[in-house]
Amino acid sequence: MSDPVLEATQRRLSEQRFHDEQAAERAASFRAGRADLRFEDAAFLDHETWIRPAFEMLGNLRGKCVLDYGCGHGMAAITLARAGATVTAFDLSPGYVQEAEERSLANGVTVHGLVADGESLPFADATFDAVWGNAILHHLDWSIAGPELYRVLKPGGVAVFCEPWGGNPLLRFARRFLPYPGKDRTPDERPLQPSDIPPMRQIFPDLHVRGFQLFGMLRRVWPNRTFARTLDGIDRRLLTAMPFLENRCRYVVLTLTKS
Ligand SMILES: C[S@@+](CC[C@H](N)C(=O)[O-])C[C@H]1O[C@@H](n2cnc3c(N)ncnc32)[C@H](O)[C@@H]1O
Repeated sequence: MSDPVLEATQRRLSEQRFHDEQAAERAASFRAGRADLRFEDAAFLDHETWIRPAFEMLGNLRGKCVLDYGCGHGMAAITLARAGATVTAFDLSPGYVQEAEERSLANGVTVHGLVADGESLPFADATFDAVWGNAILHHLDWSIAGPELYRVLKPGGVAVFCEPWGGNPLLRFARRFLPYPGKDRTPDERPLQPSDIPPMRQIFPDLHVRGFQLFGMLRRVWPNRTFARTLDGIDRRLLTAMPFLENRCRYVVLTLTKS
């Protein structure tokens, strides 16, 4: 018989190992001068089509206490700090937390980094005005992480998560069987499914879901700027006229407000 506690522990260890290995490779390239820790906000905000609109959902950040949930490289944390927020950034991978801290130093801002588990947050109730997360919820068990997220948000606080979406059968097939650049996954992560939304709404009734990249996802196959811009234009028109197509998109932005 399977032991859920043991399974969760193994999942966390495997996630931590996978991301620490990635972080170590990245650290080597920073040390060798092949990559730079400094960056302009636009490099982060425009590296995927959903990031800038998702960031805007956080509202005015000046003077706010903000959490970067599963911070990875820390670019979001630094962009949040440069927008005037007091930022705490955590990740399960010590290597990535170290990168986020070094990056904050290199960019001349303060980010409080710590190693922590998104399913057991080391923060007091109602600590944060806002929470940001990119590509993190789909690594977690929502039944544990959801109540934790709710607990650490202040009343009226907002959480914005950008997550891979599994509502498109063709995309599900491609993710599973086709090789393409940047396909680097942990064994336990899985794109959010439409069936994940109702349990989220039970905790956050005020939940909005917006899809990004319908045809735009084809940039993964042919990464050409003009091609990508054309696809994005088509997507904008199609998704405005037929919002139900958001269910077929590559990514979703979830906006969860603690009422
Ligand atoms: C796909 S990366 C996204 C990182 C970053 N948010 C970004 O925008 O690139 C997923 C991150 O989630 C972290 N992670 C996985 N499971 C976690 C957990 N249980 N608690 C905290 N972080 C976790 C990984 O270490 C990794 O840094």
